[in-house]
Amino acid sequence: MGGCFSKPKPVELKIEVVLPEKDRGKEELSAGGKGSPRAYQGNGAARHFHADERLPSPHPYPGTQDCVEAAVCHVKDLENGQMREVELGWGKVLVLKDNGEFHALGHKCPHYGAPLVKGVLSRGRVRCPWHGACFSVSSGDLEDFPGLDSLHKFQVKIEKEKVYVRASKQALQLQRRTKVMATCISPSAGHSGSTNVLIVGAGAAGLVCAETLRQEGFSDRIVLCTLDRYLPYDRPKLSKSLDAQPEQLALRPKEFFRAHGIEVLTEAQVVTVDVRNKKAVFKDGFKLEYSKLLLAPGSSPRTLNCKGKDVENVFTIRTPEDANRVVRLARGRNAVVVGAGFLGMEVAAYLTEKAHSVSVVELEETPFRRSLGERVGRALMKMFENNRVKFYMQTEVSELRAQEGKLKEVVLKSSKVVRADVCVVGIGAVPATGFLRQSGISLDSRGFIPVNKMMQTNIPGVFAAGDAVTFPLAWRNSRKVNIPHWQMAHAQGRVAAQNMLAQEAEISTVPYLWTAMFGKSLRYAGYGEGFDDVIIQGDLDELKFVAFYTKGDEVISVASMNYDPIVSKVAEVLASGRTIRKREVETGDMSWLTGKGS
Ligand SMILES: Cc1cc2nc3c(=O)[nH]c(=O)nc-3n(C[C@H](O)[C@H](O)[C@H](O)COP(=O)(O)OP(=O)(O)OC[C@H]3O[C@@H](n4cnc5c(N)ncnc54)[C@H](O)[C@@H]3O)c2cc1C
Ligand code: FES
Repeated sequence: MGGCFSKPKPVELKIEVVLPEKDRGKEELSAGGKGSPRAYQGNGAARHFHADERLPSPHPYPGTQDCVEAAVCHVKDLENGQMREVELGWGKVLVLKDNGEFHALGHKCPHYGAPLVKGVLSRGRVRCPWHGACFSVSSGDLEDFPGLDSLHKFQVKIEKEKVYVRASKQALQLQRRTKVMATCISPSAGHSGSTNVLIVGAGAAGLVCAETLRQEGFSDRIVLCTLDRYLPYDRPKLSKSLDAQPEQLALRPKEFFRAHGIEVLTEAQVVTVDVRNKKAVFKDGFKLEYSKLLLAPGSSPRTLNCKGKDVENVFTIRTPEDANRVVRLARGRNAVVVGAGFLGMEVAAYLTEKAHSVSVVELEETPFRRSLGERVGRALMKMFENNRVKFYMQTEVSELRAQEGKLKEVVLKSSKVVRADVCVVGIGAVPATGFLRQSGISLDSRGFIPVNKMMQTNIPGVFAAGDAVTFPLAWRNSRKVNIPHWQMAHAQGRVAAQNMLAQEAEISTVPYLWTAMFGKSLRYAGYGEGFDDVIIQGDLDELKFVAFYTKGDEVISVASMNYDPIVSKVAEVLASGRTIRKREVETGDMSWLTGKGS
């Protein structure tokens, strides 16, 4: 995480640094940091206090010696809807023109650091080109996920047709802003048996719920509980970076939870929930009463149910320990991955550099067939084969054979026997909701918790979010769906928190997903279940393509590789409520996308 202040490297300033010291006091920089070609706007808007900026100085806009100021461009250099990265000496700034006004924001996405200048400016926000996070142009606030932090907003003014930006040096270095949060003032904080908010699950949905409550000023007790040994971590990295240690994966440092009074109970399994008495019971017998409850238990991986299923060195990937052990065992040896979905293929790609051999076993004819279609699946399969991954398709595992208890061979239904020292099973997951069966909280036939658009369950005061729920997808006619994406879990966690505070928020985000293999990223937005055609533009062989998934004459989702920021553009168009027709993507003319997402 951010927070370390390294000495800045000397940089060559290519900018005009400005205004004699004596003139500075006369500036009328608007509190919102907004400048317009017409005039200064001392709009008197409520000033947004930036947590990071407050660390060394109680004032949100530190003294002149802590700031850098420069003319960054001429007003004619940017048209409406254009963005530009400029260097201020202590770091870069994203300057943009939206709706006739200039704005300056942090230039780097706080999630994984994407350059936002390559993203999409639309409808008063900037959408990240990599995984779709959105930031408000007028405040820098994170408006859609993934990620936890917002951007700094810098002051802008126009003088003699030039655009000036003024920024604190510290903010330029940090390039992220944690929103101001309330601290816990509840007298019951500590070890008491009751809490105001109990959150079962410290994954993406649970953490965002807790942070949103604090951001919204909630100062009563919040308890998050998890089966894990660790504080909330970046689960998607487990299958892309199997070597990563838990501390490298942490989403927030320990001090963060302490500072904001968010209690995290690790290795704490809730075994029953008594909704009548508003009480959760833990495996060790501990009971905790709550006023509001969020259920965010995620899912549990499916396992193999064949002969030899209990032999050693067969793994699913749910925790850092799983991932770390797989790499240790695979080094220089034979690895078999069962299941050619996102998780299995990411693991297979990662292991090619470590293992002696990597084989993939899959029921379907091609990897990713159900999610990405036959042609995209084949193109990706070729990339894997070129990286010496061997595929065993249209078959399944019939037996896991061991020597001295440890896996030695995987026997397939096709009678083929594959040598294996370690096996990773990635064949899907089921909602981790078994503990709710007798609770009175509704579960559907597959075990998902149905919620409404406000993330409310059938029990008042009980909310649910993340992989474990089905919810009405607003832009697909409110069809009830389960969308197990990292971004979606964040968005739902926030809506649940807002509704705990009676803010009447509704879930309306466009689903966004990504995967990474062999240094290449595939991005995906929308909800493609039930697609009946795939329109591909670009070059599949070169893995530089965009694939539009259609149902009838409507585009319902999009995937791309090496074609940024097309997926973010499509996500913006879908988020605006506009329907994309099949004929619009069939021609190969993408000019309809170059507008501003309307
Ligand atoms: C290896 C891997 C890679 C992935 N990669 C991607 C990706 O690239 N992109 C993407 O969009 N999505 C990815 N996903 C999916 C993404 O991680 C999930 O959609 C997301 O984590 C769901 O968030 P959640 O909060 O619902 O559940 P989780 O993040 O799974 O968290 C569930 C929490 O509930 C706790 N819990 C469960 N039961 C109990 C109980 N009874 N008592 C107490 N605590 C309990 C768990 O310990 C955990 O803390 C990946 C998933 C995995 C496993
Ligand atoms: S880097 Fe921006 S959303 Fe991931």
